[in-house]
Amino acid sequence: MSDWSRIEALPSPKLVDLFDQDAERLGRFSLDVAGLHFDWSKTHLTTDAVTAFVALAEEAGLAKRREALFAGEHVNVTEDRPVTHTEERGEGDAELVAAAKRLHERERALIDAIEGGALGDVRHVLHVGIGGSALGPDLLVDALGREEKRYDVAIVSNVDGVALEDAFARFDPHSTLLVVASKTFTTTETLLNAGSVLQWMTEHGVSDPYGRVIALTAAPDKAVEWGVDETRVLPFNEGVGGRYSLWSSIGFPAAIALGWGAFEELLEGAAEMDRHFRLQPLETNAPVLAAFADLYYTQVRHAETRAPFAYDVRLRLLPPYLQQLEMESNGKGVTVDGQPVGRPTAAITWGGVGTDAQHAVFQLLHQGTHLVPVEFIACIEPGDTLAPEHHRQLLLNAFAQGAALMKGKQVDDPARSYSGDRPSSTILLDALTPRTLGALIAFYEQRVFVNGTLLGINSFDQFGVELGKEMAKEAAKGGGEFDPSTTDLIRRAGLD
Ligand code: F6P
Repeated sequence: MSDWSRIEALPSPKLVDLFDQDAERLGRFSLDVAGLHFDWSKTHLTTDAVTAFVALAEEAGLAKRREALFAGEHVNVTEDRPVTHTEERGEGDAELVAAAKRLHERERALIDAIEGGALGDVRHVLHVGIGGSALGPDLLVDALGREEKRYDVAIVSNVDGVALEDAFARFDPHSTLLVVASKTFTTTETLLNAGSVLQWMTEHGVSDPYGRVIALTAAPDKAVEWGVDETRVLPFNEGVGGRYSLWSSIGFPAAIALGWGAFEELLEGAAEMDRHFRLQPLETNAPVLAAFADLYYTQVRHAETRAPFAYDVRLRLLPPYLQQLEMESNGKGVTVDGQPVGRPTAAITWGGVGTDAQHAVFQLLHQGTHLVPVEFIACIEPGDTLAPEHHRQLLLNAFAQGAALMKGKQVDDPARSYSGDRPSSTILLDALTPRTLGALIAFYEQRVFVNGTLLGINSFDQFGVELGKEMAKEAAKGGGEFDPSTTDLIRRAGLD
């Protein structure tokens, strides 16, 4: 058990005082890595806090556990397997890296074949998958696909048929490629959606619908059993967790739509962040410092939530992506030894897009009773070609919000006063490119890993999602013992 007493005893200085007391504060708490600038100076991190967290990290064996992660050891203890998403981008155990490269080559060859017309006319890519099998690829295509996208891509996750019908309305069944993405190839929503796409193709006279299906999975046998031709199954290693899988064949829609070169740059950007995480001392390590700030707020200041705001419409899918990454990884109640963790784990992660969010939820951030550490994510280079005033306003709003949260304002009228001293961090990308986006996502992944390690929990399983799925399956079979309320709801909806 790690000793949190030094952390819990940390003082709670005022942010403005921290700047007044230390002329070097900005330099001390900012870093540049892989085209990303990180600024934690408007958080309550101090050199004493960092020292205390470094001691805690040493006690928790962070450096050893980090090496175990990259060495392909079974750090996912509850499922007794390695965690291999870094190998997908070329960092870590040499054999696993080589295996991942071979699978990427196979994916690239299939993309080349599709481009060469091997599957006939393909203009639309209809990707069905859910959770990690959708959020990552969706983020990549949405963020990077504006300027040059070689295919129309729709990513459908929800079992609600409305989502699929929206895609049907956009696409021609004769030029649609169905991509079925499921690590386990057992997920109800995905298989139901995939079946409905095949039916739609058949109803529109597509002669060989199964001939237009690609499967992305860590269970290739199941995909073949389901009907996908072996040559169009793109497997990935079981050690790649669902929410860490965009680097594997799950990233297929991005690789085909943006081009293989862009996909490789994404992997290289992530690998650069991995090397930084692996080699830098803890005091100057971006994912580590970010995790220290996270833990300061959850453990010392009892913040229950954390909110990233993307000040860039191209990154609008980043907050929902991070929501799964953080909450599914670290929303745990027991340690790796199966003991109650005894302290708060993941902050409830939510967020949005600036400047829209300013006019909707920032009221609570500035004057509400909850402490919400905010993260601003923005790009120096604009994504638009309109008058520079658009981007200028966008960035200045992000920066001004951070300043206002920190500074506050006192006037005679309490309703018009701002307490201030509300923390925020900022991540500034030089430009949004595959490389910087790869580095940004890898930063978040490693930050989650550091949080999990210091809390002593396993960030790589997700048993919490199973019970509800099992009960839905029981109910779908007409079985299951339900309470009176649930039984009544099933009856009212005519589902009994
Ligand atoms: O239910 C949660 C989950 O298992 C996620 O972890 C995963 O990303 C998602 O479902 C989809 O799973 P699969 O890729 O196996 O279909």
